Amino acid sequence: MITQLPSKILIIGATGGIGKYITNAIVSAEPRIGRQISIFTSQATATSPAKQDLLFSWKSKGASIITGDLNNSDDIKKAYSGVDTVISCLGRNVLASQIELLKLAEESNDVQWFFPSEYGTDIEYDASSKDEKPHQTKLRVREFIREHVKRVKCTYVVTGPYLDMYLTLIPTGEDAGGYDVKSKRAVIVGSGDEKVGLTTMPDVGKLVVAALRHPDASMGKVLKVQSLVTTPNAILEEFERQTGTKWTVDHTTNEKLREVEKEKWDANNPLAALYTLRRIWAEGGTLYEKTDNEIIGLTPGDMEPLSAVVKRAVNGEGY
Ligand SMILES: NC(=O)c1ccc[n+]([C@@H]2O[C@H](COP(=O)([O-])OP(=O)(O)OC[C@H]3O[C@@H](n4cnc5c(N)ncnc54)[C@H](OP(=O)(O)O)[C@@H]3O)[C@@H](O)[C@H]2O)c1
Repeated sequence: MITQLPSKILIIGATGGIGKYITNAIVSAEPRIGRQISIFTSQATATSPAKQDLLFSWKSKGASIITGDLNNSDDIKKAYSGVDTVISCLGRNVLASQIELLKLAEESNDVQWFFPSEYGTDIEYDASSKDEKPHQTKLRVREFIREHVKRVKCTYVVTGPYLDMYLTLIPTGEDAGGYDVKSKRAVIVGSGDEKVGLTTMPDVGKLVVAALRHPDASMGKVLKVQSLVTTPNAILEEFERQTGTKWTVDHTTNEKLREVEKEKWDANNPLAALYTLRRIWAEGGTLYEKTDNEIIGLTPGDMEPLSAVVKRAVNGEGY
């Protein structure tokens, strides 16, 4: 067991959608976290012109870059050497490869703490969660951990939906809901007054750092954390306030959402998972009596407010 804070941290999937927020937060943490931070990535990412600024900024903050093949056990064993804490931020398409990564972690002499790639919807929220299609690979990873990972302790950081992405109105999936700043138009699922718990993408990084700083509270736990609870109508009001005008609003009923969700799965449409997740979120699958923010040392004032994220969307800042 780790008796002190993590010392040597390895991040896998660092330059991805949420990985870059988690990695930024870890390499920029004040006071510093860990004595050594390394990033395991592919040769393709390490040499990609689009990723150079990001990698350079992390190297300038003391992180080292290790290149290798995620599916090559020798490369992983080498990357694990001397590392006590592994943070996986791998994407949905490669989540199953974590089973081998966990096996190698369990066999290693060094790795003691592993964060599987979760950072999303609670895949064990209630009895219906086990049947939701988008949850299946993450559920398999958790099952493997329960059955086969004994020495290494795992922490799941369950953040619910990312507020930054939740705001986006996807042209080919409008009835799933979202907000379009250009046309000042929103599509709202349900009445708009149903509560939803969300986490901003920078806050996901903050929450992972907080978990790393509080091993006693977070090791071996499913941490249910979030930035805030709001409603689609409150988000609309914030957009209207910041843009100084009324927006056009369309509604999707929960029944309609379920119908379209089924159609998308039947047609093998890549947006099907999004519809399932939006349905889960609209039906209350992000709400808790109490979150775990406090046990990892975070108060509501530490988290980003809704206005900050809406402001980024109004300014056209990407994520
Ligand atoms: N809560 C939400 O609203 C929400 C939204 C999106 C995602 N998520 C969750 O966040 C986690 C990460 O998702 P993401 O969208 O950030 O992931 P992503 O950007 O698709 O991929 C993350 C990283 O995985 C690695 N990777 C992907 N495909 C690979 C391959 N074929 N071979 C080797 N490495 C590969 C890459 O690492 P390198 O950087 O090293 O190249 C990539 O940058 C997932 O668990 C996902 O379910 C949650």
